[in-house]
Amino acid sequence: MGALDGKVAVITGGASGIGRATAVRFAAEGADVVIGDLAPGDDAVAEVEKAGGRAVYLRTDTTSEDDCEALVAAAVDRFGRVDVGVASAGIATAAGPSNVQTRAGDAANATHVVNLATETFERVLDVNVVGVMQTDRALARRMVAQGSGSIVNIASSAARIPLAGAAPYCVSKAGVWMLTKVLGLELATTGVRVNAVGPGYTATPMIDGIEQQPAAFASAMSITPMNRLGRPEEIAAACLFLATDESSFMTGQMLHPAGGQFTG
Ligand SMILES: NC(=O)c1ccc[n+]([C@@H]2O[C@H](COP(=O)([O-])OP(=O)(O)OC[C@H]3O[C@@H](n4cnc5c(N)ncnc54)[C@H](O)[C@@H]3O)[C@@H](O)[C@H]2O)c1
Repeated sequence: MGALDGKVAVITGGASGIGRATAVRFAAEGADVVIGDLAPGDDAVAEVEKAGGRAVYLRTDTTSEDDCEALVAAAVDRFGRVDVGVASAGIATAAGPSNVQTRAGDAANATHVVNLATETFERVLDVNVVGVMQTDRALARRMVAQGSGSIVNIASSAARIPLAGAAPYCVSKAGVWMLTKVLGLELATTGVRVNAVGPGYTATPMIDGIEQQPAAFASAMSITPMNRLGRPEEIAAACLFLATDESSFMTGQMLHPAGGQFTG
């Protein structure tokens, strides 16, 4: 018996990192998985199948509302329903590299708000906030009609920790956190729950190479009492809890698998 036997899960950002580990874990727990990502998903689908599950990949840009609607429609077409949605698609900076690494090498404060280009700010908010809203909205429309469902948004501990040089990311993740609370409230009596996971620094392609960059790694560990990176599987475990009825009395909450952040 798996925790998600007979369930159908839609996962954005499922081709890589936390989304991919979540897809594999959900499949191992019995779910059918639909992966939406800008990046190719063949490897992720193969990994899900290796875990004993069924998976479908649809190229999805979460900044497109049509793509988000099509992703949920694809899940319904293929598997008949959608029980769980995980919004993991996200970016760290408009240019791509992680903000912790960018900030560590930013002696001229080029990433600070006083030097920030508006389009840089907008791009991160577009993917990380508008993309999550559009994903959640497509999921919620279907789940409310079904009368059941669980939505899990991947925010970040950066939703609660201001990081100099990371205004776009921090603001975007605070936005995901507030969106989670508002949507959880709006859907509280519908049978659809909405929660967030706010990971700390996690070893995924987003922060690839950080352990070889002493200044960036020291900066990350300075706010991580366990003094190590998280594994994507550890974040997936928190997603699993929120996806299942084990968390049936929780909505509008954020869990922090974050190596001891917020203990102070
Ligand atoms: N890795 C960390 O340290 C960390 C910490 C806290 C929160 N997070 C959050 O976790 C989530 C997953 O990140 P990750 O660490 O697995 O990184 P990742 O780069 O491995 O995965 C992110 C995935 O999102 C996809 N993506 C980006 N923009 C997209 C778009 N517009 N439409 C569809 N897909 C898109 C990428 O193609 C990629 O596959 C992100 O929201 C990230 O902000 C990561």
